[in-house]
Amino acid sequence: MSPAAPLLFFDSGVGGLSVLGPTRALIATAPIVYVADSAGYPYGTKTDAELAERLPKLLGRMVDQFRPRLVVIACNTASTIALDHVRAALDIPVVGTVPAIKPAAALSRSRVIGVLGTEATVRQPYVDDLAQRFAADCTVIRHGSPDLVAIAEAKLAGEAIGPEAIEDAIRPMLDQPRGDEIDTIVLACTHFPLLIEELSVAMPGVTFVDGGPGIANRISSLTQGQPWPDKAPESIAVFTGAPPSPALSASLARFGLTSIVSFHN
Ligand code: DGL
Repeated sequence: MSPAAPLLFFDSGVGGLSVLGPTRALIATAPIVYVADSAGYPYGTKTDAELAERLPKLLGRMVDQFRPRLVVIACNTASTIALDHVRAALDIPVVGTVPAIKPAAALSRSRVIGVLGTEATVRQPYVDDLAQRFAADCTVIRHGSPDLVAIAEAKLAGEAIGPEAIEDAIRPMLDQPRGDEIDTIVLACTHFPLLIEELSVAMPGVTFVDGGPGIANRISSLTQGQPWPDKAPESIAVFTGAPPSPALSASLARFGLTSIVSFHN
């Protein structure tokens, strides 16, 4: 294993940064290739069939190109739909992102928890299964919000986010029966931890749980004993469609992604 072999993070857009951040905190000098499938964004409004077809092929090409030591699907939508297909297509370890229903259920006192994801993620049988296994005594209220995904992209692109936009996006969850009793929310889309300040203002007293820190631990344990560079090398952000604006490039640079590369199908 060469110290230069990167970790490859994959998402439709900026969401995977919420997984990259905690990973960098654990493995400071890891070489990173961050792939934003901007040509396929957004995933949450696509059909399962479209994503199951797209993702193994695209990730196969990325692995051929960048030769990572490990792939992180830093996207709940892609993971809940296509993790098995991607694992079958690749011969390196693939870490997925699973809605953090188990820790949320362990924390909730009211026994009413929210699962806030994309429309595609919240309809998955995988989520039914997690709710049944780990939150059987909880009321689990799901809401899929394409608007929050777009708001997270806008925030990282330097736009100001007004509180009304967040309130409008979460209202359909809070308006469901027992929605006012939610005390813990699973951020089941990697874009949403990027809005933690705004969400905390909109829902004071609610505890938010996301998978980022747990995935970072998993990556650290899977790569234990492997060599890393002495100092962090320049890391790469790959865009499959529209390249990032200067403001978005500045946000990427804050995560150490200073080299922007276009990759067209
Ligand atoms: N970041 C993604 C997720 O975790 C997908 C957002 C989207 O493209 O709709 O589900």
